[in-house]
Amino acid sequence: MLLKQMTIEEKVGQMNQYNGFWNVTGPAPEGGSAEKKYEHLRKGWVGSMLSVRGVKEVRAVQKIAVEETRLGIPLIIGFDVIHGYKTLSPIPLAEAASWDLEAIKKSAETAAAEASASGINWTFGPMVDISRDARWGRVMEGAGEDPFLGSKVAEARVKGFQGDDLSAVNTIAACAKHFAAYGFSESGKEYNTVDIGTSTLHNIVLPPFKAAVDAGVKTLMNSFNEINGIPSTGSSYLQRDILKDAWHFDGFVVSDWGSLNEMITWGYAKDTREAAKITVTAGSDMDMEGYVYIEELAQLVKDGVIKEYLLDDAVRRILRVKFELGLFDNPYKYCDEAREKETIGNPKNHEAVLDMAKKSIVLLKNKNHLLPLKKEGQKIALIGTLAADKNSPLGSWRIAADDNTAVSVLEGMQHYKGNILTYAKGADVTTEKAEFVHEVKINTTDKSGFAEALAVAKQSDVVVMVLGENGFQTGEARSRTNLLLPGVQQELLEEVYKVNPNIVLVLNNGRPLAINWADEHIPTIVEAWQLGTETGNAVAQVLYGDYNPSGKLPMTFPRNVGQVPIYYNYKNTGRPTNKDNNVFWSHYTDVEKTPLYPFGYGLSYTTFEYSNLKLEGNSFKIGDDINVSVTLKNTGKVTGKEVVQLYIRDLYASITRPVKELKGFELVELKAGETKTIHFTLNNKTLGFYDNDGKYIVEPGDFKVFVGGSSIASLEADFTLN
Ligand code: IFM
Repeated sequence: MLLKQMTIEEKVGQMNQYNGFWNVTGPAPEGGSAEKKYEHLRKGWVGSMLSVRGVKEVRAVQKIAVEETRLGIPLIIGFDVIHGYKTLSPIPLAEAASWDLEAIKKSAETAAAEASASGINWTFGPMVDISRDARWGRVMEGAGEDPFLGSKVAEARVKGFQGDDLSAVNTIAACAKHFAAYGFSESGKEYNTVDIGTSTLHNIVLPPFKAAVDAGVKTLMNSFNEINGIPSTGSSYLQRDILKDAWHFDGFVVSDWGSLNEMITWGYAKDTREAAKITVTAGSDMDMEGYVYIEELAQLVKDGVIKEYLLDDAVRRILRVKFELGLFDNPYKYCDEAREKETIGNPKNHEAVLDMAKKSIVLLKNKNHLLPLKKEGQKIALIGTLAADKNSPLGSWRIAADDNTAVSVLEGMQHYKGNILTYAKGADVTTEKAEFVHEVKINTTDKSGFAEALAVAKQSDVVVMVLGENGFQTGEARSRTNLLLPGVQQELLEEVYKVNPNIVLVLNNGRPLAINWADEHIPTIVEAWQLGTETGNAVAQVLYGDYNPSGKLPMTFPRNVGQVPIYYNYKNTGRPTNKDNNVFWSHYTDVEKTPLYPFGYGLSYTTFEYSNLKLEGNSFKIGDDINVSVTLKNTGKVTGKEVVQLYIRDLYASITRPVKELKGFELVELKAGETKTIHFTLNNKTLGFYDNDGKYIVEPGDFKVFVGGSSIASLEADFTLN
């Protein structure tokens, strides 16, 4: 047994993760923290490294671990493969808008193939944080607001990254993050405190993590937030009681960057010694770039403050994942230059991300059928710097991708040669090059491009305006207090509208935006997020009708930022409606109660009709399968896909239940005029909920079932559970 041969220091070493610290093609590091890290690596005091990439680099650090240390234990190499590696998929929120689990799985497979060919064997993804707050910049990394959709997407992504065989050379270990409730940071402000009740924790936050664990995820990352006064990194309740005991998770938990130290800044630990004691006891197995374990753990064991079995438990978990990856059989298995060359940027990967990108687009409005565009004989104005941008569509969290490698919308549209296309920049979104680690500076004054844009718009039949956020305006540490189109873009839109109202607004954004004015005035709106490497081709194919959009929103779009948090599965309250024509009901006095676009909403170039919602009976016993069917007809003129959504409402229970809860969906393709019956089954897995002790229960009572093409599902039926 390897564990038995290890010294305390070597065990602590396995629990220590360092960020890449030197260019391995140069000389060994001298001085400062780099030299210290290098020494630790050579002593076997490093179990993992992150952000080292490329076969040459990975081989060099692995060689030190394997050939220079006493036990030769290989490193596990982690990297943020969030939406692709070099060839980028849409941002994860956009992918979730496809509701296409096969495509999402395939996207993770493609990312795993590229990353593993580059020496990486562990991704810090999927991010499975549910969030109801579009102000939070990290909503771009998740699957949106709903725990049911979020759980299905989490499962698909874990299976995509890890495959059926983790030891295969093209699969990598996944990491469900951030455990837990990071998406509920108060007021959407990054790194803020979280204060949610147990019902929200168990019914909304935890289900996607549980789904990831059930899908076999090998690792979890804990989160920067505190929850109800306890930083997640130091929470035994989350990491021991729930994750490792109740869910029987046998992989390991990595901390987020430096979060062990942040226990001190939170005011939860006096010093690093206490932080180490709390976090190791709480079940935080690996310290990411925090130096806390490496500096404190061995002494804590020697002083008898903590028992060595805590280290053994963590190390056993870490070694198990390394074994499962096959690193002990061949530590260099991910270091094959020929495979690296062949795999990265392979045309097959471009095909896969293009397919994913098209599926992620959501048609929000198409009045007067301005879309699809005619392929010939039109004058088209293309306006907005984002239309020609090759960087922004890559989105945030794309560390391995080269800058400016996206196909821009302009380039995508130029492939269609039958029209006259004229581009004008109109308005810059940012004032300087936007970057991952720097605050993005928004242009709030420069309107020098307006005149040209107006002139071009005036002479055109149709104006396509690409507006929205820069790719680095969302992501970590990118919280916003307003959700309007940034900078002078709204003004540009209104000015162009005055000279030519035939506008197709293509949105590029990483979060729901409040586009009330646009919804009222602009005839056609396409939500195109940040779609990755193939952005322009995907957008052009949708605009020209070569691809019929079928995406549905995974997050509610508010009318204004004051409505946030706004989500479809809210509680009824004691005063949901205006019964007596007075003000004493749950609403704002200055805006409608409804969102601008609800969760699950999205149009197509065809239309669908729902009918015939049937339940096999209306009275069932707990434990029965309840079969539900509905008829879907394509009533338009072209083939299209529809996400048929099933929601329930538990009318009364020992804990109040939401007005609607998604419990099933199916992506269905129908030819024009075609009809199909869609079947769903409800059972104990979908009819219950977690009580305030975290126990899953199914209660008798009255339920409603809703089916339709969004969370405003129109068909309704009732049943009783006895
Ligand atoms: O994986 C990320 C995490 O989501 C945020 N902090 C840094 C980690 C590693 O890059």
